[in-house]
Amino acid sequence: MNQPIHAGARYYGALTLPIYDAAVLNIAVPYAWGVPLAVGREMYRRMVGARHLDIGVATGYFLRKALADRDMAEITLMDLNENATRYAADKLRRFTVTQAVGDALEPFPVSGPFDSIGMFHLLHCMPGTIPEKAVALDHAIRVLAPGGICFGASVTPAGRQLGAFGRMVLNGSNRTGALNNAQDDHDTLRSEIEARFNDTKIELRGVMTLWEARDPK
Ligand SMILES: C[S@@+](CC[C@H](N)C(=O)[O-])C[C@H]1O[C@@H](n2cnc3c(N)ncnc32)[C@H](O)[C@@H]1O
Repeated sequence: MNQPIHAGARYYGALTLPIYDAAVLNIAVPYAWGVPLAVGREMYRRMVGARHLDIGVATGYFLRKALADRDMAEITLMDLNENATRYAADKLRRFTVTQAVGDALEPFPVSGPFDSIGMFHLLHCMPGTIPEKAVALDHAIRVLAPGGICFGASVTPAGRQLGAFGRMVLNGSNRTGALNNAQDDHDTLRSEIEARFNDTKIELRGVMTLWEARDPK
């Protein structure tokens, strides 16, 4: 049986995926959330390992950039929306790519182990509170290789000042359900990550929480 697709994963299809990089990554990320796109590219370039699991892939933009000068990588793409895994897999077809359809809130349909797990711009799409969304970290830990790294980014605007464009994007996207993050805050996400990993680097850039986490507790 197909998994139910909540609104945060529903909008990725034949019409939207081709414009995702231009509209979301090149406009919303820097101008609504205050984070230069280069920040995400640098994180991916530095952290993607030999066996990488990416969860919530959309177009696979950051992976494409990170792997641009690599010859080999074993990539697993997991998304609740099969359109996204198919689209990103096609863009990454020169590598060994496995596709998996699955909800990050449920045990993952992949066994790993993975040297790196990317969860970029994912949690802010998912339903629930931050502690409820953080269950995805527990599932990630189960398939993380010893010495592996879990990293991600999520827009955590609660309690922060947003510019007019940011407020417009936040309100509009929470109204449609494309994002579910109006109540998400940096400190709660930080404590959920710190509760699960011994070695973390977590920072707030603009209104986005960026994290790297190693050594699960
Ligand atoms: C905003 S896009 C992020 C894409 C990419 N990681 C990036 O940073 O550009 C969110 C992606 O997460 C997927 N997604 C949303 N909720 C999900 C869930 N519960 N489990 C797995 N994937 C989900 C969506 O289908 C979409 O492909």
